[in-house]
Amino acid sequence: MTTTLAFDVYGTLIDTHGMIQALEREIGERATAFSHAWREKQLEYAFRRGLMQNYRDFGVCTAQALDFTCARFGLDLDAARREALLGLYQHLPAFADAGTGLEQAGRAGFRLYAFSNGSATAVTRLLDHAGLGGYFEGIVSTDELCSFKPNPAVYSYFLRRAEATGDQAWLISSNPFDVIGAISAGMRGAWIRRSPDALFDPWEIEPSLTLEGLAPLAGAITGLGRRGVE
Ligand code: LAC
Repeated sequence: MTTTLAFDVYGTLIDTHGMIQALEREIGERATAFSHAWREKQLEYAFRRGLMQNYRDFGVCTAQALDFTCARFGLDLDAARREALLGLYQHLPAFADAGTGLEQAGRAGFRLYAFSNGSATAVTRLLDHAGLGGYFEGIVSTDELCSFKPNPAVYSYFLRRAEATGDQAWLISSNPFDVIGAISAGMRGAWIRRSPDALFDPWEIEPSLTLEGLAPLAGAITGLGRRGVE
C-alpha cells in the first residue's frame, strides 16, 4: 500500500508568523510577541471549542484570538486595520522549504494531502496563494466534522477520506499537539522542529521521526521503510 502523508498547514507549510512586518507597523518591537500570543490564543480557542462542542470555523477562532490579543497588548485597531490583518492571515507565506519538501515527497511516490483545522476554502486559498496548491491529492479539513485537532475523530476521519490505514499514514506537523494527537489516534507522526527553541511535550508519546525542516522528509520516511520500520 502506498504511504500517505498528511501535511499540517498552519505552522508546518505556512508560516503563521509571516506577517510580523505588518504587525510591526501596528505595534513596533512587540510584533513578534504579539504574533506568538495571537497564534497561541487561536489554538487555545480551537481546543476549547472542540472540547465544549461549541464549534465555529477556525477563521472565527483566529479573529476572536486577534481581538483578545489586541486587548492584551493595548492595541486599538479600527475595523479597517483589523480586516487588513485578518486578510493578511488568509495570504500568509509558505516556509522556504515547503515547495521542495512537497515536490520530493510527490516524486518519491507518497500520496500527499493537506490536513488542517482551517476550512477547505481557507486552506485552498492559502495554499494556492503560496504556490503549493498543486502538490496535493486532496485537502481534508476538520471543519467537515465540526471539530478540531487533536480530537481523535478528526484523524480517523482523515484516514477514511484518504482511504488510508494508520500504519501507512503519517501526519507531518510542526505542532507537537498535532503529532501527539495523530500518534495517539494510530497514525505515524513526524515532528518538524522549525526552531531550535521548539520543545516537544514531555508526554509518554514521542514523534516517530523528528526533522529540522521538510527538505529531508521524503528521504527519511523512505529510509525508515527500507529498514522495515515503516
Ligand atoms: C492546522 C493548525 C493546527 O493547520 O495549525 O491544522
